Amino acid sequence: MRPARGGRASATSRCSSRPSPAARRRWRTWSGPWRSPTSRCCSTTTTARSSPPRPTSPCPRVPLDVSPLRAGIELRDVWFRYGPGKPWVLRGVDPTIPAGHTVALVGLNGAGKSTLVTLLCRFCDPTSGSLSWDGADYRDLRADALRGRIATVFQDFMRYELTARENIALGDLPAMEDSSRLTAAAGAVRLHHTITSLPKGYDTLLTRTFLDQQDDDDPETGVLLSGGQWQRVAIARTLLRNRCDLMILDEPGSGLDAEAEHEIHQRLRELRQGRTSVLISHRLSAVREADAIVVLPQGRVVEQGSHDALMAAGGHYARLFHIQAGGYRSDTAEAPA
Ligand SMILES: Nc1ncnc2c1ncn2[C@@H]1O[C@H](COP(=O)(O)OP(=O)(O)OP(=O)(O)O)[C@@H](O)[C@H]1O
Ligand SMILES: [Mg+2]
Repeated sequence: MRPARGGRASATSRCSSRPSPAARRRWRTWSGPWRSPTSRCCSTTTTARSSPPRPTSPCPRVPLDVSPLRAGIELRDVWFRYGPGKPWVLRGVDPTIPAGHTVALVGLNGAGKSTLVTLLCRFCDPTSGSLSWDGADYRDLRADALRGRIATVFQDFMRYELTARENIALGDLPAMEDSSRLTAAAGAVRLHHTITSLPKGYDTLLTRTFLDQQDDDDPETGVLLSGGQWQRVAIARTLLRNRCDLMILDEPGSGLDAEAEHEIHQRLRELRQGRTSVLISHRLSAVREADAIVVLPQGRVVEQGSHDALMAAGGHYARLFHIQAGGYRSDTAEAPA
């Protein structure tokens, strides 16, 4: 199996370097009861440090199993950089993701949103600070058990040089032989008819890499999908994992045409109802219904709250929203649908 990448780095090689032994010394920051998300609504951070605090007490490392998420995920003063001497990407961020809620991350290119996703999936550990799952430090948890509870659509999702069936079923291997689950996932992102019209349906190879010159004109030997169709494959792969505790969607609609993006955001909105999810999108109309929107310019949380609260606050988010809405306006002021 030879994966081809849709973007930057593979899931297991997202860090350019592993944290140093010193940085890997663990310390706990979980120190008390769960903080109510409402008490943090539309807050403005005042953090102004240029480097993280020194580690305090190391904690024992006993890998624990991971229970279903009940309270939520909490980040405590998380600092992160991709290696010693590299610039800080996250600078003391501390959003909470309460169970059953959708938290949206908003920020300009390079703000650190996808980096936060790599920490939530524990592909990297924070350089300083901590993440906790129902109060248990991420670093005390079994990484495989943690990831088994998370379903993610990565911004740089994988395009495997395998069949359509295999590309989707990799989200949850038992589905490989379960056509009803595969077609339900593909149907949810309007991909089922595209796949059934391929030369070998779900068993069509989604690559032409393995072909000889003589097969070049034979579409039955493998096809190439468009970028938007690949994005649907990636979303369908994640939807197969709909029993997971945390769903992370990093720019799930960026490669889709306007109609498909609207439709898929609508479908994902339905799927997120009552579930814990993190949504990242530059399309602010897609994030406005999130329970909380965290605004993250340059690795710091500067605002968080509901769409209405942030608009009323007239800060960073409101400015971005007005800029985007302006692009959709004719003479009469109207926000994007
Ligand atoms: N694997 C990596 N190694 C080194 N630096 C990285 C790596 N991945 C990201 N970065 C850097 O970290 C910073 C934040 O990147 P990140 O991908 O988290 O931003 P983002 O908010 O998701 O941006 P976008 O909106 O463009 O997706 C950028 O400066 C980027 O160059
Ligand atoms: Mg990103």
